[in-house]
Amino acid sequence: MEDKTILCIGAGYVGGPTMAMIAAKCPDYTVLIVDINEERINAWNSDTLPIYEPGLDDVVKKARGRNLFFSTDIVGGIKKAGIIFVSVNTPTKDFGAGAGKAADLQYWEKTARSIVEHSEGNKIVIEKSTLPVRTAEAMHRILNANTKGLHFEVLSNPEFLAEGTAVKDLENPDRVLIGAMTTERGQEALKKIVAIYENWVSRDKIKTTNVWSSELTKLVSNAMLAQRISSVNSLSALCEKTDADIQEVSEAMGLDSRIGSKFLKAGVGFGGSCFKKDILNLVYLCEHYNLPEVARYWEQVVFMNEFQERRFVGKIIQKMFNTVSDKRIAIFGFAFKADTGDTRESPAIYISKWLLEEKAKIAIYDPKATKNAKLELSGIEGNIEYCDCPYEAAKGAHAIAVLTDWNEFKTYDYLKIFNEMEKPAFLFDGRNVLDHKKLFSIGFNVFPLGKPELSHLDDGN
Ligand code: UDX
Ligand code: UDX
Repeated sequence: MEDKTILCIGAGYVGGPTMAMIAAKCPDYTVLIVDINEERINAWNSDTLPIYEPGLDDVVKKARGRNLFFSTDIVGGIKKAGIIFVSVNTPTKDFGAGAGKAADLQYWEKTARSIVEHSEGNKIVIEKSTLPVRTAEAMHRILNANTKGLHFEVLSNPEFLAEGTAVKDLENPDRVLIGAMTTERGQEALKKIVAIYENWVSRDKIKTTNVWSSELTKLVSNAMLAQRISSVNSLSALCEKTDADIQEVSEAMGLDSRIGSKFLKAGVGFGGSCFKKDILNLVYLCEHYNLPEVARYWEQVVFMNEFQERRFVGKIIQKMFNTVSDKRIAIFGFAFKADTGDTRESPAIYISKWLLEEKAKIAIYDPKATKNAKLELSGIEGNIEYCDCPYEAAKGAHAIAVLTDWNEFKTYDYLKIFNEMEKPAFLFDGRNVLDHKKLFSIGFNVFPLGKPELSHLDDGN
């Protein structure tokens, strides 16, 4: 009976959608989601979910109140469930040893201790959060040091969903990865977790490994993805010097099936809660295991990302006659990618800060991320305006900087926008989402990323 009650601790971007999908697809399981954040739980129980994710409302509505329950009752949840997913955050440590690189596992450990304290029976505890390889070993020790004679089996089942496409990714994943100890108990627990996913994922897509491979796979999958972006972004800089076009180069490269076409879009840099944190964590692990060359290799992926963000700001300043002081710059998009309101580690944060340091006035418009943008920039000095529509942001602006690849940016009336801007009007498309030729014909001086510029100015720059 307990095996049919699943608990998830941590109702964030990962825990919330993942558990909602499990509940929707597995009506014979009861899924409880708990979180220490009461406001978040109240939002999960309301018509306005705490995160914006296309298609998520329907999934939640289908199961909520039937076999999906959100609450702050962590203790009650631990007592009832036989299977516990842990999806609390694992930020980069900002203190003590490993500060700035290592993962801060304090929430994880506190959660493990709370599981031990309140458990009345054996449990399967599953790492959903991204964790350093071999965390399961420490977890195993903490959990099984209990004096109640209880057994806790620790498994790893990392989540690969991307924000903005979470529902699609969960419904039809490339693979589900589950790592377990090779012991009899480990393999028994593994079967129970496989059985959950088998409700909607075909068995050949459920990959089972040992725990360490599973933990490490999650970390390095993110590192490999980020590495592709840094590689293509580094080449975008070379394209701008040589009149090559990064979109053409990416497309032509991607036709090689060994390279593949996905994740080759140059942009202002990668953001999101995972990439930077996970690479730094990988760097720390390599240092810990005395592999400095491997550490330096991966660290470069993060350096290249910051270079790209700075390069973009440098270009804006240079093209606008070497000063943006007192000039209004409309920021189109603050989210770290399209179709999400999430702004964690968004390049827009850094780009905005650097523009403000140069005394630019910035006017931000984002379809979903204004609330988070305000939080990110709170306490930052400078002239910042948050706008309800793109036309308001661009009115009287000297330049537009596109920082997120929202589709709706393509649909605006750019003639109207141009007419209401200061001249010469500049447009810096940091995501290459707009129709550059059309904008140029309207009168904009267009600076795409990694592509030849379309400028009416003979400025010799
Ligand atoms: C997080 C991690 O960032 C990621 O590495 C991991 O893979 C999954 O968890 P995300 O869901 O995006 O990803 O984080 P977040 O939205 O911050 O959600 C974590 C939730 O855990 C928060 O709602 C927080 O309130 C909750 N939490 C945290 C607890 O319930 N208990 C704690 O002790 C700490
Ligand atoms: C990522 C991983 O994709 C996912 O598997 C993991 O579970 C969590 O981390 P996420 O951060 O939500 O997901 O979004 P993702 O689509 O990977 O984009 C990350 C960043 O890279 C965004 O800022 C995006 O704009 C950027 N990006 C992505 C590019 O600049 N170019 C690309 O070609 C792809």
